[in-house]
Amino acid sequence: DSLTLKEAFKDKFFIGTALNLDQIWERDIKAVAVVKKQFNSIVAENCMKSMFLQPQEGQFYFKDADRFVAFGEQNKMQVIGHTLIWHSQTPAWFFVDKKGKDVPREVLIERMRKHIQTVVSRYKGRVFGWDVVNEAILDNGEWRKSKFYQIIGPEFIQLAFQFAHEADPNAELYYNDYSTAIPEKRKGIMAMVQQVKAAGGHISGVGMQEHNALDNPSLEEVEKTILGFADLGVKVMVTEMDISVLPHVRPNMGAEIGERYAYSKETNPYEKGLPPGKMAELGKRYVAFFNLYLKHQDKISRVTLWGVGDGDSWKNGWPIPGRTDYPLLFDRHYQPKPFVKDIIALT
Ligand code: XIL
Repeated sequence: DSLTLKEAFKDKFFIGTALNLDQIWERDIKAVAVVKKQFNSIVAENCMKSMFLQPQEGQFYFKDADRFVAFGEQNKMQVIGHTLIWHSQTPAWFFVDKKGKDVPREVLIERMRKHIQTVVSRYKGRVFGWDVVNEAILDNGEWRKSKFYQIIGPEFIQLAFQFAHEADPNAELYYNDYSTAIPEKRKGIMAMVQQVKAAGGHISGVGMQEHNALDNPSLEEVEKTILGFADLGVKVMVTEMDISVLPHVRPNMGAEIGERYAYSKETNPYEKGLPPGKMAELGKRYVAFFNLYLKHQDKISRVTLWGVGDGDSWKNGWPIPGRTDYPLLFDRHYQPKPFVKDIIALT
């Protein structure tokens, strides 16, 4: 037989996948077989987000996350924690008092401290690295005006890294974001990382999510981002890779950010299957990305796919619900796509 992904990339970088609950609990037997055979790093797609770990103040729910970490240990995989501080999928109570008013700065800092401390110390020595802060910089390079930013100020990042480091001094700690190939955003992230480092923050790496499309971003800009981040003296990793084959959502097709866009034949053209030409295009694109990652294997420590099979992908539901996308390495039957052997052949 030919090599598996994890065998092929063994001396290059970790090769990872996100796991959903059916996979974490091994209910989806076919998916689990692929995970065990092909990948040596895992991240939880949802169950370590704060809305699931601490749905009510002080009431932690660890069943799924415990199982996820145990799965990784049983299979000798690198276990990644995602994500401690994020503007999205944070429970509503986190930012408000009993009357629904924004809490004072000190209270939000204390809630952050307690959440991070409780979660990180529970898995101390078992979770290899944490996405400490997710998506704090906008595409234009400015700070996202999240509740964390509005109530605490930009120091919330510094504090998050500090609390995580105190809870597990040996864990790697990451900043993670999407669209990192946009020049303004790249610069904004680099400036932020420099600030965190200058203030003594323990930031080990920056994650490029890599939720990509067939025609965007350009490999040139991705390469600049890899080099720019590496220049900061941190590890660089690909944390949530997928490549959507579906048409971009253009502003004139949709509404404001946060609203749902329109579903139509035009936005969902491959409901009955991916035409061979498109599969070939997808394969070329994946090979080109992996080629770039291999070129910079001294800087890149991990490449993680955001899901196992196409049927698992969030891209079927975002930003337009009910579409049929083909963004991953394995199809809806958990068969490797034809180009997986070409990715392996690059090594
Ligand atoms: C997504 C999950 O895949 C979905 O199941 C969930 O409904 C929403 O979040 N950036 C991130 C991930 O950091 O946590 C997101 O995951 C995708 C975008």
